[in-house]
Amino acid sequence: MNNVGVIGAGTMGIGIAQVAVQNGKKVVVVEVNEEVLNKSKAGLFKTFDKLLEKQKITIEDISNYKNNLLFTTDYNELKDADLVIEAIIESLSVKHAVFQSIESVVRPNCILASNTSSLSIASISAVLLRPDRFLGIHFFNPAPLMALVEVIPGVQTDIKVTELIKNEILSWNKKTVLVKDTPGFIVNRVARPFYGEALRIYEEGIADFATIDWAMTHFGGFRMGPFTLMDYIGNDINYTVTESVFEAFYYDPRFKPSFTQKRHKEAGLLGRKSGKGFYDYSEGVDAPLPNKDEALGQAIFNRILAMLINEAFDAQFMSVASREDIDIAMKFGVNYPKGLLEWADEIGLEQVLVTLQNLFEEYGEDRYRPNPLLKRMVYSN
Ligand SMILES: NC(=O)c1ccc[n+]([C@@H]2O[C@H](COP(=O)([O-])OP(=O)(O)OC[C@H]3O[C@@H](n4cnc5c(N)ncnc54)[C@H](O)[C@@H]3O)[C@@H](O)[C@H]2O)c1
Repeated sequence: MNNVGVIGAGTMGIGIAQVAVQNGKKVVVVEVNEEVLNKSKAGLFKTFDKLLEKQKITIEDISNYKNNLLFTTDYNELKDADLVIEAIIESLSVKHAVFQSIESVVRPNCILASNTSSLSIASISAVLLRPDRFLGIHFFNPAPLMALVEVIPGVQTDIKVTELIKNEILSWNKKTVLVKDTPGFIVNRVARPFYGEALRIYEEGIADFATIDWAMTHFGGFRMGPFTLMDYIGNDINYTVTESVFEAFYYDPRFKPSFTQKRHKEAGLLGRKSGKGFYDYSEGVDAPLPNKDEALGQAIFNRILAMLINEAFDAQFMSVASREDIDIAMKFGVNYPKGLLEWADEIGLEQVLVTLQNLFEEYGEDRYRPNPLLKRMVYSN
């Protein structure tokens, strides 16, 4: 595949365009908003300059990249594309309109893909004349830095198209995982308890933000604690993802959003980008100190990790992805220190099950039900 089209020059589109062009592709970036198009182009060229300064690329590389990039507002420029990746706003009707207008422009063997995070591949493909050549290719933010790409065939995708895309994206130096077209795919589904259970522990008054963050970084080796990470992602975005996964799972209590995060979002306490979130990022404000009680920290970590592992088991149990791919996804999509299923093996499945059973018994809530696959594996040794 030599010619790649990217639709949308926002955060994700421009990142995907960078990845493609740095892997030797000719890239056409189509954007409706000319101002955004020019800004994103300038931003990308600045990134190239920074990479040059760091000696990661050469002057010749930059000149090749610039020659191989076309920024346009005209969909007709996609006529030679072998692959088109759409990364526009998360609206089903707008995505439908875009795919309908490009389907007649592109070549018959051009593969069409969406970078959607929360819409189903099936629903986007519904308006296509040729849904067999359409699938999900889900990059993570920032696309040039995050190694993971989830490849998501829809119910109508030709298996040859899926294979072709897996190999193509592998050749872009990315790790790919194959995922069933289910809400949140792997990462945005399995990672939910990292935020949700942390918020629940806070709401119950067991510990404050700093202590929960400390427990997860200190005992778990996570790069950031849940509240630091939510502030980093933005409480608006993180809350919206949780809400959409909750709705998509027919209100399964495992994914229930939190009032605490909702109130932060409503109040404009979005995190780093607004200067305040769970923490205050104003100049001169000291970060709150955690309560470094070892027993408390260990209990918090065990509880959140058990919930994460339960979710990873559920993804395997429901054939969302293979065991290997679930672990790869969490290591490379959200930089977890270990894959959750390998982590479960390491600490012992029985211990994970006991933690979940205790929570389930104490709270009597469906949210804590241990996954049947985990139970079967423990009971069958
Ligand atoms: N931001 C993330 O962390 C992230 C991660 C993975 C996937 N995604 C998904 O990627 C997609 C894009 O997200 P984003 O964060 O880059 O959004 P964004 O708002 O930064 O960019 C979207 C861009 O699409 C443009 N656009 C809108 N309609 C268009 C059209 N008809 N034709 C061409 N361009 C159009 C907008 O002008 C905007 O520049 C969404 O589907 C989102 O769910 C986002």
